[in-house]
Order: sequence, then C-alpha cells, then structure tokens
Amino acid sequence: MNSFVLKGDICYSIDKDTLCTIENGYCVCVDTVSKGVFTTLPKEYSTLPLYDYSGKLIIPGLVDLHIHAPQFAFRGLNMDSELLSWLNENAFPEEAKFADLSYAKKAYTIFAEALKNSVTTRACIFATLHKEATLLLMELMEKSGLISFVGKVNMDRNSPDILIEESAEKSAKDTESWVLSAIGKFDNTFPIITPRFIPSCTDELMEKLGKLAKKHKLSAQSHLSENKDEIKWVAELCPDAKSYGDAYDKFGLFGKDTKTIMAHCVYSGDDEVEHMKENGVFIAHCPASNTNLTSGIAPVRAYLDKGLKVGIGSDVAGGHTESLFRAISDTIQVSKLYHRLVDNTAKPVTFSEAFFLSSKGGGEFFGKVGSFEDDYEFDAVVIDDSVLPHPQELSVKERLERSVYLNADLLGITAKFVRGKKII
Ligand code: GUN
Ligand code: FE
Repeated sequence: MNSFVLKGDICYSIDKDTLCTIENGYCVCVDTVSKGVFTTLPKEYSTLPLYDYSGKLIIPGLVDLHIHAPQFAFRGLNMDSELLSWLNENAFPEEAKFADLSYAKKAYTIFAEALKNSVTTRACIFATLHKEATLLLMELMEKSGLISFVGKVNMDRNSPDILIEESAEKSAKDTESWVLSAIGKFDNTFPIITPRFIPSCTDELMEKLGKLAKKHKLSAQSHLSENKDEIKWVAELCPDAKSYGDAYDKFGLFGKDTKTIMAHCVYSGDDEVEHMKENGVFIAHCPASNTNLTSGIAPVRAYLDKGLKVGIGSDVAGGHTESLFRAISDTIQVSKLYHRLVDNTAKPVTFSEAFFLSSKGGGEFFGKVGSFEDDYEFDAVVIDDSVLPHPQELSVKERLERSVYLNADLLGITAKFVRGKKII
C-alpha cells in the first residue's frame, strides 16, 4: 500500500530560508511519491487510507550523508586523540574485526537496527575493506527498509597489517567482484566506490577505482581536508596535485560524471571550494566529528552562500551519535562558535538552514528527496513531542526546534515511511 494520507503537524523545507509548517494538515503519498501538503484534504484523495497522527510532528525523513557502520560499536569511546592517531588506535583495530563474518553480523545487526529506529531514512555508509562483510551489511540495510549507498572501503597503503589490501590490483579486483554481486541485487541498497582517503590509496588503486566508477556508473564517497596534519601528509604524497581535492579529481573521483560526496571540508582553500562547486561535489558536514577529533569547524556559511551542495553527516564514530537531530543542533552551535571566534562576518547557521541541510540539502544526492513538495519521493518520520510537556501553546516550528534540541528522537519515533512504505 503505497498511497495514503498522513494527518498531523507538518514541517518541511522548500529552500534553506523557507521552513513550511502546517498545523493539523495533510500530506499525501500516491504511488511512493508526495502530492504535496494541504490544510484541507482535496476530494480526490479522500478515499485513500489515512494515518491519523493529530498532535504529532510529521517531518521528511532525514539524510545522513556520511556514516561508518563498522565504527558504531565504539561510538562515544576514546575521543581524546586527533584524526590520524584516532584512526590507528580505534578505527583500524575495530574495522579489522570485520574479517570475521560472525562478528560482522552481530555488529552490523545492531547498527542497522539503530538506524532503522532513528530519524534517518537515507544514508551513505562506509563499510570496511572486507567484501563479504560489506555485502552482509547491504543485506541488513535492505532488510531495515531504509535506502542507502554502501561502500566497500579501499586501502592499500599507510595502513596497519591487520587492515590493508595486499595490492592495488587485489583491492580493485575485490571491489569489482563485490560491485557485481551487489548491483541489481537490492531494491533500496546500492554500491558506491569508497576510497578511504588519499593517504590510504595508491595512485594505481585510485586510477582503477576511477575506471570502475565510470564503467559501472557508480557514485563515490571519501574524506577531504578534515585535519591539518592529514592535509600536510596529502601534499607530501601528491606533490603534483593543486589541492587535496585535485588528487581525487585526477582519477575522476571528484564529482562531474561521478556523483561524489566528500566528508568534512574543514580546511578547503578557495581553489578547492571553487573546484567542488564546478564539479557539483556534495559536502557532508560532520560537526560532531570535527569537534570530537579536534579537527576544527567547517565554514558552512560560506558553502551555503556560494551555493555549494551541502548535507549533514553523523560520521559515527568520529561523531558519537547517529541522531541527525543532534547533528542539526551541532551544525548551528559550531557555526556560532565559528562566527564568534573565527570570522565574525560569517553569520551563524539558522535553524531553518540546518533543517534544510539535514533533509533536502543531503536529499539531493538521492534525487527528489527530503521534502514534501509535489513529486518528491515520500519519506516521512512522525515524532511525538508530547513526551516533552510544555506549559504553553507552542507553534509547530517551536515544537520542531525544541524536539531537535532536546533530542525527542531518542525517546522513540512514532512512525517512519520510506519511499511510501511504512517501516515503523
Ligand atoms: N579519514 C579517513 N578515514 C576516516 C574515518 O574513518 N573517519 C574520519 N572521521 N576521517 C577519516
Ligand atoms: Fe568519516
């Protein structure tokens, strides 16, 4: 049953400055697609089944543009180091465990279940370098009902013996065999080319991955300009690249024909920013991770003003929670610190802007996703904010803002629809 009506207090973004709210309204889904939002239900939809969520908030499903499934087990742990030592001390030893399929099953089941119960309906996910475990993660994501891109990670240099691929050739061969086993296998789960980051991939491997993306018409995801030591290292490794981003572009893994997400972009210089704009690269802003790993604060205001494509990533487990409500408030808060401490001409990100980034901004990576406007794919989450009682009558917008800041999502969501299918 993919045609129905939801009744309740509806909030959705049209653009970054326009957050629409309709109290006691109706959103209509016909054949998995939104037909818009109404104050009175049009006659033509009056015979459709109606889910009555009166008094509850209805929002579009949110989009996590960057999350590491195998790091979920250590979220909230060991946050006292910066990126490069954190990778060696935490991420790599944990990810190495996914060579064992029974461990992978245990850990990925917990991950998929948590994501299902969150406000996220779409996600771009890093797995590990292990192709069998990555396929297993894809099976679990498919079962969850969410829509996701999942990447087998590539890493053939500067990595510990427990977590490194034996050669560029083997890494590319494994990737292609995984891609072939994943393409067309699922309705809602898709492979994405995932070089971990420049320091962990040789030029030979990057070249093969660029060709694979082209051959199989796949998107790509990676990390960019996250940490100053990392950026210095990339400059040493790639003396011919004009910027860190250019090191991806040399191999066709930086937007243009290969739709690409780059996480972080904390220290992207003017040329790199221009390059991302020209190539239509999506930026995954990950404020919790950038704070936890003492990376810095990404200049999201500048990216918004320049019209770049930006969404939000939880970046678990650099980020400590999968909650995109938390990522929205983090986005606003770090932008205020940036404004006060770094550049007082960069206005803080508003609630409307941050909500847009978490829904329609990141949703664009998936197509017409992240809004209830006409013709958008119908993803919705219902939140019962009466669990947070208040002595006054609040507007729908106030209730949403408060639900985000107070993490009403963590108290349990009431219902969830993904491309017109009720999964909770
Ligand atoms: N850069 C390369 N790998 C990673 C990772 O796992 N997390 C983060 N935050 N940055 C990275
Ligand atoms: Fe990451």
